[in-house]
Amino acid sequence: MARKIIIDTDPGQDDALAILLALASPELDVLGIVAVAGNVPLPLTQHNSLKIAELAGKPQTKVFAGASKPLVRPLVTAEEVHGRTGLDGPDLPEPVMKLHKQHGVDFIIETLLHEAAGTVTLCVLGPLTNIALALNKAPEIASRIQEIVLMGGGFFEGGNITPTAEFNFYVDPEAAKVVYASGVPIVMMPLDVTHKALTTAKRIEAFRSLGNKVGDACVAMLEFFERFDEEKYGTDGGPLHDPNVIAYLLKPELYSGRHCNVEIETASELCLGMSVIDWWGVTKRPKNAIVMRDVDHEGFFTLLTERIATL
Ligand code: RIB
Ligand code: CA
Repeated sequence: MARKIIIDTDPGQDDALAILLALASPELDVLGIVAVAGNVPLPLTQHNSLKIAELAGKPQTKVFAGASKPLVRPLVTAEEVHGRTGLDGPDLPEPVMKLHKQHGVDFIIETLLHEAAGTVTLCVLGPLTNIALALNKAPEIASRIQEIVLMGGGFFEGGNITPTAEFNFYVDPEAAKVVYASGVPIVMMPLDVTHKALTTAKRIEAFRSLGNKVGDACVAMLEFFERFDEEKYGTDGGPLHDPNVIAYLLKPELYSGRHCNVEIETASELCLGMSVIDWWGVTKRPKNAIVMRDVDHEGFFTLLTERIATL
């Protein structure tokens, strides 16, 4: 029986590869994709979600629009990383498939109430706004979510949009706080993992050698996406963040970490959005997330490339 998932996302080139990996994997049943404002505004993230589903050759995928702004703060975007469209790099055709009319937050709630309890995993690749809105609107869904697997936060690696905060948590720290206080089982892929998964030239060539439309689009996306971080970190390739969420579902053995308490800073302007991870257990705060710290990055890229080859 395929694992049922909902992908909540702000595409974003790295989101795109995560969505492609999920749609290429028969172990997963993608019940829907819900766009959120993040890397670029919602009109673009919803449009990009449609483009990616069609690129994967899965036009029957249900795509919804979610929140257009964070819970209480103005939206912060990242065009400097992802380009004006959020999906700069490849020249993808305009989508034929249409958005579903239902609001994405209502789709999340309705799906969780309809499906058997504990059988739907939320894969969160952007700011946590939609998830927090769903939990606030229908608290009864918390006990019905199998797991939340998310890309966000950082600790030993610090932050990427401020010295202490990772982008997804920084954009909507109040939403992240709601999710980490919800009691839902969380698996977290922080920058400490994703900064070990670099899109090196050799790995880009592996996508190019696939010789298929999707592989070529991945090359164009990654070559655009990585330039910002290559310059920033001085590395061969940039960190590939979001596909780690999907790869964990497919091959959890690629990752290692520990159960910790994680709290989100929402008051300090200096450290806003920081994920305060009690890695050494120095507080008695309840452990509320499995925090991953290491990844078999060769295995990760092998999995990703093998699956993209099937599209
Ligand atoms: O900090 C990296 C995260 O922020 C990734 O999910 C990227 O797509 C952006 O949303
Ligand atoms: Ca993202």
